[in-house]
Amino acid sequence: MPADNVRPAWSLADIPYAAIEKEKIIGNMDWFYLLAGASFVETLSDLYTRNLVEYYQDNVSATMWLLQEWEIEEVQHGQALRQYVLTIWPDFDWERAYQGFVDAYLPYCRTDLLGPTRALEMASRCVVETGTSSFYTMIQAASPEPVLCQLAARIRADEVHHYKYFYRFFLQYQAREKNSRWRIGRELWKRVAEVDQEDSYLALKNAFEVKNPGQQFSLEDFSAFRQRMGGWISRHYPFDMAMKMLLKPIALPPLLQKVILPLLTRSARRTIIN
Ligand SMILES: [Fe+2]
Ligand SMILES: [Fe+2]
Repeated sequence: MPADNVRPAWSLADIPYAAIEKEKIIGNMDWFYLLAGASFVETLSDLYTRNLVEYYQDNVSATMWLLQEWEIEEVQHGQALRQYVLTIWPDFDWERAYQGFVDAYLPYCRTDLLGPTRALEMASRCVVETGTSSFYTMIQAASPEPVLCQLAARIRADEVHHYKYFYRFFLQYQAREKNSRWRIGRELWKRVAEVDQEDSYLALKNAFEVKNPGQQFSLEDFSAFRQRMGGWISRHYPFDMAMKMLLKPIALPPLLQKVILPLLTRSARRTIIN
């Protein structure tokens, strides 16, 4: 597979943590929870990698890519976000909160929960990368703090790159499996419905309970948080981009896509905001 030369490789040394304008963000705890939660989910990628590598063990180019690029980049996203959070909120016991998240989330992370076929699992991975690409696009647009904008832009570029790889692997398996559009669509839909549930709840819960000793994070707190996020989402979420990426594996005829895309974008916007 050709390397993506549009996207520069980066490391934590490229992020100017010392230049963070703390006063622009430190007072808004929603940013703390959002970024701490994202750092947990990203860091846990080593576990997903193991599951995926096991599932695709007979595919050398997929497993090599997963181990040598994907996992390393995802874990780097976690470390970069962790360092950002700890630069601003240094009293946060990140390790303890992360361990709590891992213990709670582990039961949801099993190889037998992967897609029913190899092509369909690759399509599901495209949904996940669509989610992360659009999440960091939103962070980049909504951030009140310039270093966070830079960091989100770097991570976003990686996520789009991951999407492209999973999509190419999907096409290779799909050529053999020939799943119908209906079947792929159903699988994508199932995955969309699952995205953002257990993992974001558990990530926020563990960040909250370590940051606020003695307090419990309830489902009501979670829904209040999501409601506050609704405002950002309506202003900054790249609905068009997300819908295009989501529909790509279904390969609708161009004319149909032209009709369906604005309808779906509008209804996604309504569903997410309400
Ligand atoms: Fe990531
Ligand atoms: Fe990714």
